[in-house]
Amino acid sequence: MVAGVTEITIRPDLGGVPAPQHVAFIMDGNGRWARERGLDRTEGHRRGVETVRTILECCRTWGIRYSTLYAFSTENWKRPESEIGVLFGLMADYLEANLPKFLRDDIRLHLLGNDEGLPEPALTNLHRTLEQTRHCDTWHVLLAVNYGGRDEIVRAARRMLEDPDRPTPSELDETRFSAYLDTAGIPDPDLMIRTSGEIRLSNFMLWQLAYAEFVFVPEYWPDFDEARFARALEEYARRDRRFGMTGEQAAGQGA
Ligand code: IPE
Ligand code: IPE
Ligand code: MG
Repeated sequence: MVAGVTEITIRPDLGGVPAPQHVAFIMDGNGRWARERGLDRTEGHRRGVETVRTILECCRTWGIRYSTLYAFSTENWKRPESEIGVLFGLMADYLEANLPKFLRDDIRLHLLGNDEGLPEPALTNLHRTLEQTRHCDTWHVLLAVNYGGRDEIVRAARRMLEDPDRPTPSELDETRFSAYLDTAGIPDPDLMIRTSGEIRLSNFMLWQLAYAEFVFVPEYWPDFDEARFARALEEYARRDRRFGMTGEQAAGQGA
């Protein structure tokens, strides 16, 4: 598979609303996509990687600087060992195949989640890409692996308690605490999209999604494409984001 051959020919009509800065995806439904076709779940995951390629290309084409992909949750360790092996195998292959593209297109990879205990070669490939794309700053891809929102908050609290420069109790505020999260320095998602018709967060970005817009689409992840993504963005652009203000105030601030 040649990385970076997808060309995006459509563009969402956002009616003058700026594109979101950060879109987070819960990539769900690979298994059901496969089952409905009489295929092994593995095939669904394989097709899911194709969707990742397309969607990241859309983000670049449409000016979405940050993209987060929920690839493996802290709860996904409950799955059969064979499926876990396939998922990490696909991740390892994806990272290896796409490192040149990340460097060429100035895409920085970030890890959300705990890398302890990740299987090889996914772990090595992950660290190689994290390290080699550290200087990239045009686009940012956040890969959530062995990720749970609660786990992230607990790890952040631990990091803060271990930091000799930690804030005192009276100095601690949301900004200071955010600096210990896996997303330190990265703006919160404006939009969260979950595929496959499930309407829940499954422990995803509990802190960061505080004011995101949510779009739940019925399509399984392997069927999610540029047209469906464009429609989700158009739905986002029609929402009134008020951030606690009155509608009139928010309109005055261009929210
Ligand atoms: C998403 O698809 C991929 C991961 C969670 C790793 P699923 O594997 O959850 O697919 P369904 O939900 O069983 O259809
Ligand atoms: C959420 O999907 C996790 C990822 C997409 C990686 P799941 O399929 O694991 O979520 P539940 O179990 O249906 O809530
Ligand atoms: Mg699922």
